[in-house]
Amino acid sequence: MRNLIQFSLWGALGVAATSDAHLRTRAAPKCANAPSTLSLTDLPYHNYFYSDCNVAAQAVVTSPQPDSDLSIIGPRLIVAWPAGDSGACMFFEPQSSANGTLAIELVNSTVGTPLGPVYSAPKSPSKNPSVGVQGVLRFNTTATLNLSILGSIRTIRDFVEGPSLLHPEFQDAIKYTSGDGGVSLQRIWLDNVTTTHLNFMPFKDSSEKNNGQVKLSDRTISFDAGDYVFSADIDYPQLTALKPSSVLNEASANLTAEKPAQAAALSFLSYSEKVLAGAWRFLTYFGRDSMIAALLLEPVLSYGEGSAMEAVIGAVLERVNRTDGTVCHEETIG
Ligand SMILES: *[C@@H]1O[C@H](CO)[C@@H](O)[C@H](O)[C@H]1NC(C)=O
Ligand SMILES: *[C@@H]1O[C@H](CO)[C@@H](O)[C@H](O)[C@H]1NC(C)=O
Ligand SMILES: *[C@@H]1O[C@H](CO)[C@@H](O)[C@H](O)[C@H]1NC(C)=O
Ligand SMILES: *[C@@H]1O[C@H](CO)[C@@H](O)[C@H](O)[C@H]1NC(C)=O
Ligand SMILES: *[C@@H]1O[C@H](CO)[C@@H](O)[C@H](O)[C@H]1NC(C)=O
Ligand SMILES: *[C@@H]1O[C@H](CO)[C@@H](O)[C@H](O)[C@H]1NC(C)=O
Ligand SMILES: *[C@@H]1O[C@H](CO)[C@@H](O)[C@H](O)[C@H]1NC(C)=O
Repeated sequence: MRNLIQFSLWGALGVAATSDAHLRTRAAPKCANAPSTLSLTDLPYHNYFYSDCNVAAQAVVTSPQPDSDLSIIGPRLIVAWPAGDSGACMFFEPQSSANGTLAIELVNSTVGTPLGPVYSAPKSPSKNPSVGVQGVLRFNTTATLNLSILGSIRTIRDFVEGPSLLHPEFQDAIKYTSGDGGVSLQRIWLDNVTTTHLNFMPFKDSSEKNNGQVKLSDRTISFDAGDYVFSADIDYPQLTALKPSSVLNEASANLTAEKPAQAAALSFLSYSEKVLAGAWRFLTYFGRDSMIAALLLEPVLSYGEGSAMEAVIGAVLERVNRTDGTVCHEETIG
């Protein structure tokens, strides 16, 4: 009950609660377990995973390396949610110099190591809290955010992997606003209910030194060199994450200590509704992948109620064609 009161209080203070990144997690329900986090680097990509009882998200930072093909590798930040198979993708460019001269990175800070959670109470028309991740993004020189895509993973893939497809229906619906020294983008989904938010704000370190400014001009956002708090959140229903300890069976419990990264990765992909494949580019149900992976992992996966095996079989059964019994391989959501 106390928690409920706290939520509605923060809801009433909506603007104050969302304008300051440091305040944005206070209304969040307390989680019984510590967040599950994982970092994986495969240059030029840095992947970061964050999952707690309120949100699960992946962030991917791309920063060009000396050997990168600069016609296809540019500074880019992607945040992806298994929930709704959705994401936000941002392409940056150096403001005044050649491709390859801007490096971006996520750095550990008081808002995240490098990711921290974002939570704000439900705000009409959505009935769900807005949840996501935040962190400090560092630019080593002046930068421009030239292109943002707020949509489903499929929409982002259409641009990233397809023939650079951009859908005006989605792109033109992004609203850009500035205020309090920061810049925000938001887009309401085709359901007219769900909203994706992106925010950028100069990061003040403990000395309260301002690192630089972020400015909005028309639909272009420019940054001085420096550190910025970014946050990305959506008010779409989240999946129910399986704890690392409930993914593995008892005999394999010590794998969380022996192979912590693999156990954390398996856990990030395991939800009671379904298990996921292909983070970040798919990040949803794939029937073939779930079933083959479940067979291979059978010796270590948990069984019974609330288990990983139940999630796999349950998700497959829910997607069987009732007319001819065929099993769904790829679901089309987002
Ligand atoms: C510079 O980067 C942009 C965006 O990533 C790309 O479209 C363009 O082709 C690049 N230019 C060169 C000369 O590589
Ligand atoms: C990105 O912004 C920079 C700086 O404003 C500009 O020079 C460049 O042409 C823009 N690139 C695209 C693809 O719009
Ligand atoms: C930023 O990083 C890029 C890529 O590593 C490098 O080429 C460039 O010199 C750096 N710029 C500054 C101002 O340090
Ligand atoms: C950032 O924090 C994480 C989690 O505490 C830690 O594993 C990582 O080494 C830190 N990174 C740096 C560059 O200090
Ligand atoms: C959302 O609103 C638009 C404009 O009012 C309308 O055309 C569309 O049918 C609505 N979509 C849904 C799913 O309600
Ligand atoms: C983990 O459990 C397996 C199987 O019971 C055992 O062989 C192994 O020694 C255990 N490892 C550790 C570090 O306890
Ligand atoms: C289910 O199976 C029937 C019969 O083969 C087929 O006509 C229908 O398109 C299938 N439905 C889906 C959603 O694939």
